[in-house]
Amino acid sequence: MPEFDTIRAVRWSDGELHLLDQRRLPQTETWLRLDRCDTVARAITEMVVRGAPAIGVTAAYGAVLAARQRYAGSASGWREGFADDMRMLARARPTAVNLAWAVERMERAAAAVSGDPEPVLLAEAVRIHDEDIAANRAMGALGAACIEPGSGVLTHCNTGSLATGGYGTALGVIRSAWSAGRLSAVYADETRPWLQGARLTAWELVRDAIPVTLLVDGAAAWLMQQGRVQWVIVGSDRIAANGDVANKIGTYAAAVAARHHGVKFMVVAPSSTVDMDTASGADIPIEARAADEVLLAGGQRVAAAGAEAWNPAFDVTPAELVDVIVTERGVVERPDRARMAAMMGG
Ligand code: MRU
Repeated sequence: MPEFDTIRAVRWSDGELHLLDQRRLPQTETWLRLDRCDTVARAITEMVVRGAPAIGVTAAYGAVLAARQRYAGSASGWREGFADDMRMLARARPTAVNLAWAVERMERAAAAVSGDPEPVLLAEAVRIHDEDIAANRAMGALGAACIEPGSGVLTHCNTGSLATGGYGTALGVIRSAWSAGRLSAVYADETRPWLQGARLTAWELVRDAIPVTLLVDGAAAWLMQQGRVQWVIVGSDRIAANGDVANKIGTYAAAVAARHHGVKFMVVAPSSTVDMDTASGADIPIEARAADEVLLAGGQRVAAAGAEAWNPAFDVTPAELVDVIVTERGVVERPDRARMAAMMGG
């Protein structure tokens, strides 16, 4: 189904990694070409590429570049430098477990290599990328089937093609549900401070000719009070073993408001986002970002001089506020430790 799937923000071409610079969307579509692992790690930290699955895919290609560079330096001793590079990649952002998951997968592939590691690692990176797109397609169908026809939905942050290998998680469900004629309206929080909703989600949906209405994050509870949405649909950066969900700051507030208003709350994420080694949300590292992201808007200072800012990039929604978690392995209703373990197969 080519419709609603025209964007790829992470591409491997001519032996280089090409990233659509998401800091500059929607004003300009600028592509960066990277051929070194350290610049890939920096691109992740600085949000050229963002969204948990997309940074996992990007890191996988970063591992290919690391292996090429280290092997060219020493065909017999490349593994030590490669291990350093993998540590650097894994540290680029702390909350999204897809990053560490992809790095570990690339390390396992590297451990099995003899000779030039690049072809083997490139094949593994492409597999990670393709699997993510396939998972998104599967989740799109599973999630859309949960939504009653005629529903309005609200989403937060950007969880689309830009945030993944392609198609999207929560936005993939919205794409599939729209395509199946189940949605009456799509609302998107603008998502302060990076405005992923206003800049990125709106850009993707407008390109797909799916009508989208933006609101400031603080309007979400009132939107629910007015009966305009029946589902809140979000992605995740890490789901703990008990079903607690880390996602973009503001997700927790949306979940609290949803429960108060009888609006259902769906989390859509591939199984690579589920971290069975993290017992609960309390154990998830939450990224703290620079105060200037809050104090400035569009490069201009908006806050009163002298004010300080608290800028957690993510929050944790407790499992009890989540109605369904959708992964490519299936739908978990009212998630808890036992149901998550059953879905993950152990
Ligand atoms: O800081 P970001 O833009 O990387 O945060 C992204 C999110 O919070 C997404 O909701 C999450 O990564 C899931 S993306 C499919």
